[in-house]
Amino acid sequence: MQRYFPLITCRLLLISALLFAREADALKVTGGSVTAVQGGTAILPCHVTDTNDDLTQITWQRKTRKNPHNDNFITIQPRNGLQFVNGRDDRFKYVGNFNNKNGTLQLSNVALKDEGSYTCIFTLFPSGNQKIEIPLNLLVPPFTSVMDNLPTLGTEEVLFATCTAAGSKPPAEVRWLTGALGDKVRTTTNSTQYDNGTTTTVSSLFGVPTREINGYQVQCVISGDSLSAEETLAFTIQVYFSPTEVKISAISEDSFECVTEANPNAKFTWIRSGQSLLESAVKVDGANLQLLSLTSDLNGLYQCEASNAYGSKHGQLYVHVTSGTSRVAWALFLVLLSLNVGAAAWYFYKSGRFKSCGSK
Ligand SMILES: *[C@@H]1O[C@H](CO)[C@@H](O)[C@H](O)[C@H]1NC(C)=O
Ligand SMILES: *[C@@H]1O[C@H](CO)[C@@H](O)[C@H](O)[C@H]1NC(C)=O
Ligand SMILES: *[C@@H]1O[C@H](CO)[C@@H](O)[C@H](O)[C@H]1NC(C)=O
Repeated sequence: MQRYFPLITCRLLLISALLFAREADALKVTGGSVTAVQGGTAILPCHVTDTNDDLTQITWQRKTRKNPHNDNFITIQPRNGLQFVNGRDDRFKYVGNFNNKNGTLQLSNVALKDEGSYTCIFTLFPSGNQKIEIPLNLLVPPFTSVMDNLPTLGTEEVLFATCTAAGSKPPAEVRWLTGALGDKVRTTTNSTQYDNGTTTTVSSLFGVPTREINGYQVQCVISGDSLSAEETLAFTIQVYFSPTEVKISAISEDSFECVTEANPNAKFTWIRSGQSLLESAVKVDGANLQLLSLTSDLNGLYQCEASNAYGSKHGQLYVHVTSGTSRVAWALFLVLLSLNVGAAAWYFYKSGRFKSCGSK
C-alpha cells in the first residue's frame, strides 16, 4: 500500500493542475457590435467571465471619426470609478459593475463623430490584459423635402419637382408614386456621398406641363435602414399660367361677375374707362361689380382686369341705363364688349338686354 500512495497524490495534483489550466483557458471576454440612431443612446457592452483573477482596472480605448488614433479615453478603477483620460465627456456613463467584471458603458446623444471602434481592456492578475473590440455603427435619418420647380404651361418636358433625402446613413431610397399618370411623367434619381459617410439622394419628376396635369396628386416615398418607418410626402403637381380669357357674366339685373382660369388664382380689379368708379353708385367685391343705383351717371365702359404673377388679361362691359322714373321702368341696356372679337351676339336678360362679345 505504501508503495502506491505517492502515485495517487501525484495523480491528484496533476488533475487539479489540468483543471486549473482549463479554467484559465475558459476565461472569456464578451462584447458585441452596436448600431445606434443619431441622437439616441448606445450601450457598449463588455464583460469577462469564467475567471477568478483579480480585476484591477478597466480601460476603454476608441478610434472614431473624431479621434482617428486609437487612444485611451476612459479608465475605471474600484476606488476612483470612471475617469476621463483626455477631457470629460459627460455623455459617457459607466453602467457596468466592477465586482462582476462588467465594463459596460452607456453613451447618450450619439453623434456621427462617435462612430468607430471601441476597445474594452480588462487588467487581470495573474493572466494580464484581456481585450475586446466593439464596433459602433451610426444610423443617420435623412432630412426629407419636396421642392416645387414652379413649371409654367408649355409643350416641352420640364422638371416638375425634386424630392430629397439629405444626409442619410446608410443611403435612403427615394421614389415617386405617380399612379394613373403612367408614362406621362418620368423620374430620375441621383445621389451624392459625403466624406462623413452620409448620402443625399434626389429624385426628380419630369413631364410636359399641360393644363390637364395641373393639380394632379403624387407622392414621394422615402425608405431605408436609417428610417424607422417609410416616409410619404404628398405633392400636388402645379403648372402655373397667367389668366386665360376673361368672361364677364350677369349674375342679376344689376351685378356682374368676372371669371377666368389662372394658377395661382387671379386677382380682379374693376376700373371704369376714363373715369374713376363712383364709389357711391357701385360696389366692387373681388370679381364682382354691383351697380347700386341704376342711373345714367353709370353709363360707360367698365373693365375687369384679372392678373397673377404670370400675367394679366381683361374683359370689358358697356353699361347703358336708360332714364326713367321707376325702377321697373328702367331698361338696363348693357353691352359686353370685346376689343378682340368683332362680332356681337345679342341676347336678352330679364327686362334688360345685353350685348355679349366674350372677352379679350
Ligand atoms: C453588464 O451591465 C449591463 C448594464 O448594467 C447589463 O445590461 C448587462 O446585463 C451586464 N452583463 C452581465 C453579463 O452581467
Ligand atoms: C445629378 O448629379 C450630377 C452630378 O453629381 C449633377 O450634375 C446633376 O445636376 C444631378 N441631377 C439632378 C437632377 O439633380
Ligand atoms: C455630413 O456632411 C455633409 C456635407 O458636408 C453635411 O451637410 C452634413 O451635415 C454632415 N452630416 C453630419 C451628420 O454631420
